[in-house]
Amino acid sequence: MAYLNDHYLKLKAGYLFPEIARRVKAFSEANPPAAKRLIRCGIGDVTEALPRAVIAALHQAVDEMGQRESFRGYGPEQGYEFLRAAIGKNDFRDRGLDVADDEIFVSDGSKCDCGNILDILGRQNKIAISDPVYPVYVDTNVMAGHTGAANEAGTYAGLVYLPGTPANGFMPDPPAEKVDVIYLCSPNNPTGATATREQLKGWVDYALENKSIILFDAAYEAYISEPAIPHSIYEVPGARECAIEFRSFSKNGGFTGLRCAFTVVPKSLQASTADGKFTALHPLWHRRMSTKFNGVSYPIQRGAEALYSPEGKKQVRELIHHYLGNAKVLLAGARAAELTVYGGVNAPYLWAQTPAGVTSWQAFDKILNEANVVITPGSGFGSQGEGYFRISAFNSRANAEEVARRLQTLHW
Ligand code: MLT
Repeated sequence: MAYLNDHYLKLKAGYLFPEIARRVKAFSEANPPAAKRLIRCGIGDVTEALPRAVIAALHQAVDEMGQRESFRGYGPEQGYEFLRAAIGKNDFRDRGLDVADDEIFVSDGSKCDCGNILDILGRQNKIAISDPVYPVYVDTNVMAGHTGAANEAGTYAGLVYLPGTPANGFMPDPPAEKVDVIYLCSPNNPTGATATREQLKGWVDYALENKSIILFDAAYEAYISEPAIPHSIYEVPGARECAIEFRSFSKNGGFTGLRCAFTVVPKSLQASTADGKFTALHPLWHRRMSTKFNGVSYPIQRGAEALYSPEGKKQVRELIHHYLGNAKVLLAGARAAELTVYGGVNAPYLWAQTPAGVTSWQAFDKILNEANVVITPGSGFGSQGEGYFRISAFNSRANAEEVARRLQTLHW
């Protein structure tokens, strides 16, 4: 008899985005004319074409693969040196941050890395997550058996939830109790909030004092528009001793369909063995990647490298400018619709409060049925997300303008 992983049976409903897709499909089948005017501001998936510099690099790399002399088979599991060097220089060392090329691990996505990192962390850890939160952090811990069952609100026993509210700018402070692993996401998905330098310092100090590890998800780093906001946790002294950082090319270079990201595991980062010996995590992640991963394909890594060329950088800036421009249009529209709304300045997400007495899923249904716009219900991001919904700014300008208009036609 084969046994399944019982922990999967604890997962609440479907993963948020498949569940939204299911509801949208049902709506579209029942209302074909309305389906034609549907605008999707749900999942945070990019809509604009890849930067031209990336396209050129992809073409060239594919041509290389077509010649015996320049063909490449398996690449290094940790990523090609050309890409690790471009990342290390541009994202870190040029900004005065101490990250070596071999501390950078190229992968096929931050979502995967956020889940896979649990492979090298012990089961004994007490895990803290902010609430609302990117559901992947919670679900991967459930799958790994790090939680008990969920209650009605979808809150799992065994996890420490740190509420993100308007009062703390949706960036919780460290808890009074001791936790071992902390997920932080800044700019934040779903709220669009960012951690200030002081807030990050508070977390790094807490982690150093408690010998905890911060899993810092900076997938939306490129959207930071206010100069005082840190782009990397390594801007905070001491973070190399307590933090892993996840970055992605999905939202800056438009790589959601190409798949390329990276994770920084500093060599100075240690965690305890079961018998109390502090040991570096870097070799464990190296081993994990070598064993379970064969690297991102050569053409895609060449495409990612092109994002760091002068044209690539300019084209990325144009993409970010476009999506942040949409966010501005949506913010103005939501405010004109008399919604209380956060985010949208350093992130491609707006976090809107539902009018009094309206739940997140009720808001989802109303906006879908009456405005034919897909948003993401806040409760899908955790119990503290109830009473909110997220609007994604990933769209064409025309669609953003249309959504801004339609929001104002709703009578709540
Ligand atoms: C989201 O909508 O939250 C994102 O698309 C999820 C992701 O990047 O995996």
